[in-house]
Amino acid sequence: MATAYDIAMTQGQPEEDSSVPVVAVENLRKTFGILKVLDGINLSVNRGETLAVLGRSGAGKSVLLRLIIGIETPDSGSVFIHGQNIAGLAIDQMGTIRKKIGFLFQHAALYDSLTVAENVAFPLDHHRRDMPRSERGDRVKQLLAEVGMEGDFRKLPSDISGGMQKRVGLARALALEPEILLLDEPTAGLDPISSGEIDELILKLQRERQMASIVVTHDLHSARTIADRLALLDQGNVVIEGKFEDLQQSNIGFVAEFLKHS
Ligand SMILES: Nc1ncnc2c1ncn2[C@@H]1O[C@H](COP(=O)(O)OP(=O)(O)OP(=O)(O)O)[C@@H](O)[C@H]1O
Ligand SMILES: [Mg+2]
Repeated sequence: MATAYDIAMTQGQPEEDSSVPVVAVENLRKTFGILKVLDGINLSVNRGETLAVLGRSGAGKSVLLRLIIGIETPDSGSVFIHGQNIAGLAIDQMGTIRKKIGFLFQHAALYDSLTVAENVAFPLDHHRRDMPRSERGDRVKQLLAEVGMEGDFRKLPSDISGGMQKRVGLARALALEPEILLLDEPTAGLDPISSGEIDELILKLQRERQMASIVVTHDLHSARTIADRLALLDQGNVVIEGKFEDLQQSNIGFVAEFLKHS
């Protein structure tokens, strides 16, 4: 007899099965030449959950996110999106998966020559041509309002602050209504007040949209505020994974050291 999962699969909607993590990585390994960056990482995130990935500079946090969206390929190990191994997917299948993922790059990575509104419209203009132009315009306004940037839509990225650029990057990441949100250092380089505002914004978006989110950061305060679970990377491994209290109570030397300096 066909299970609910089989039925969902035949309907092309494996994401309906809530017992499968939205994102899972298994035994992920990645080296660059002789540099061993990730050495067997296991992590998973469910719908509505936020996982913070912490670690020192160079620990492999950004590489991990790039492996999850398939910009880089692992030496071994697997990335599963809704239970589907992304290795060996055809380009169009990978394209379909990528559209479910909103990505905020480490340096916001806005297009310098495009206005704030054009930056946010970019994914819609490329992937939602089926949507009438006026509807796309409305959607951009709505997204900018959601991140508190509706008054700045005509400005260029060079004319807004770092915190505002992160907001615009977030709006762009949300444009295709992703089920998965990957944020690389959303508060890096911001003053504590702006960082706090971005944290509040991430919490609000997560409450409203119930995405599966992975937030890479070395900002422990931010991680504690926005995440349900924290994972600390060192030497290519997850040294500890748990709630902030679990990290505080850990007697692993590196964990205590990381907390002390954060
Ligand atoms: N494409 C690449 N080719 C060669 N080495 C790379 C490449 N991408 C990353 N690395 C190296 O892999 C290591 C991990 O890089 P990564 O960018 O993931 O670190 P990170 O944890 O994000 O650090 P940060 O907190 O500074 O952003 C670094 O030593 C980096 O130089
Ligand atoms: Mg990084």
